[in-house]
Amino acid sequence: MALSRSLPELAHVISHPQPSFDAGADHFSGPFTPAVETSRVKLLEALDELQALIVGPAGHVFFLSFLIPAHTATLHTLYKFEIAKHVPLDEPISYTDLAARCGLSESSTRRRVRAAISLRIFDETSAGLVQHNAASLALGTTTLHDWLGMATEELAPAALKIAESTEKYPACDDPTKSPFSLANNGNGEKDLFGIVSDQPARMERFAKAMAWSMKVPGMEPRYTVDNLGWEHNCPKVVVDVGGGMGDLCKAMLDTYPSIETAIVEDLPEVAAQGELAVLPEHKGRLMFQPYSFFTEQVVKDADVYVWRCVLHDWPDSYAETILRNQIPALKPGARLIFNERCLAAPKARDHVQEQFARACDTHMQSCANAKERTYDDWASLFAKVDPRFRLQSVSTLLHSALSIIEVVWMGDTKQTEHLDAQSQAPIKEDPIDDTSIGQASVDRSSVDVPKDYLMASDEYETSTDGSELSYLPEKAIPMIGGTWKPDGGCREVRIVDSSRVSRHWLSDDEGD
Ligand SMILES: C[S@@+](CC[C@H](N)C(=O)[O-])C[C@H]1O[C@@H](n2cnc3c(N)ncnc32)[C@H](O)[C@@H]1O
Repeated sequence: MALSRSLPELAHVISHPQPSFDAGADHFSGPFTPAVETSRVKLLEALDELQALIVGPAGHVFFLSFLIPAHTATLHTLYKFEIAKHVPLDEPISYTDLAARCGLSESSTRRRVRAAISLRIFDETSAGLVQHNAASLALGTTTLHDWLGMATEELAPAALKIAESTEKYPACDDPTKSPFSLANNGNGEKDLFGIVSDQPARMERFAKAMAWSMKVPGMEPRYTVDNLGWEHNCPKVVVDVGGGMGDLCKAMLDTYPSIETAIVEDLPEVAAQGELAVLPEHKGRLMFQPYSFFTEQVVKDADVYVWRCVLHDWPDSYAETILRNQIPALKPGARLIFNERCLAAPKARDHVQEQFARACDTHMQSCANAKERTYDDWASLFAKVDPRFRLQSVSTLLHSALSIIEVVWMGDTKQTEHLDAQSQAPIKEDPIDDTSIGQASVDRSSVDVPKDYLMASDEYETSTDGSELSYLPEKAIPMIGGTWKPDGGCREVRIVDSSRVSRHWLSDDEGD
């Protein structure tokens, strides 16, 4: 895992459409074709490597430790005094006027805004006036502002309590003793949701921040929605458990007209917020249902239950309770789709994606003593709750931060034990057949699902005279003439077929 690329090699990575921070530029420097998205990931990794190399080993640690607290303070001030919202959309403003609008002294305003300008948020004109650039405009006009509030007022104080909580409660998996609880005087009695649920403004900010996070590259619902295979046999009733403001369901309804009803379940305060934001085109198909998953599931016999970024909020013992509470509602063949991270071992050239994955894991620890899970964590969680949960497949699409983990409820069908031919380990034969799967549930029998993918790793191609560089993105190529292939290729696919206990672990080149 050494930093091994030479500077010319790193410079070669730059072959990317020109992005911009000018007001009016795309908020994520998109739009992304799959090739641009691949180049973006490569470039970010190269820049991270380049910065570390240039500042040097000790400088690297110094930069992180010195800059991060200062950046957090600046970002928090921007949020608390709504500085971006007070800058006019289309004309500059003086520091004196901006300070008056924000209720700050002129000197504090100038110091924080200039610190923000150093972070490429806002611009200053040659006449010394403040004006928006694309980053400050996004902050002033979108729910990125709620995200900033959640990050600086909820995540940051909790993260600083991790060391204290680890010392005070070693190996604790009680969310009421989480770093977040320590930071919020939960006193071992209240978890995060217990703490914020009677504070509507905080609840609303959480919900809006989560909804905003679906715009972040890699987190967009399209990765999930476009790759469920539902074009072949679409479920009629879908429940999104802990679905927040319902954005995933909205995308599903738009993509699959055959879905008759999508029900978003969440805590009463969140469900009420979601109800207010139902668009006219979804009326009659999209419902909000107040429900706590610490009680028995109230929507019975749905075809699919979706869980996006929900179980990562809960330690295993709680996740087990949540899953057990679903069992009475499940009909044989019902699908549970967990759209969550599936942590892998660190790879040589994946530091930036790893930083995000590990940051999520860190925040799960600080918020709830919870965690992001590996493939084995997921498999053992389902197995421990009930062997009738069959882990069907885990796929991680190229550039998607989240995996699609598909579980089928096998119901009370009789199971016969056989020995696996190779290992002689007992295996459960799966007696469920397609006729026992509910009519509206996903029936993959009509779909030619490839069992194996060949990973064609991404590469650069230079023209014969060496002058031009073109990029060939990584692809997942189905090995047996199947028709089902996730759009844009797969980074990793595991098809788990418990009736034959066959597992396929396919990943891109680990040694890259
Ligand atoms: C991390 S957010 C994910 C939201 C949404 N699925 C998404 O992907 O944006 C977790 C969600 O679980 C909800 N939640 C927390 N405790 C809950 C409970 N006991 N019952 C139902 N939902 C709950 C939260 O309100 C929140 O909307």
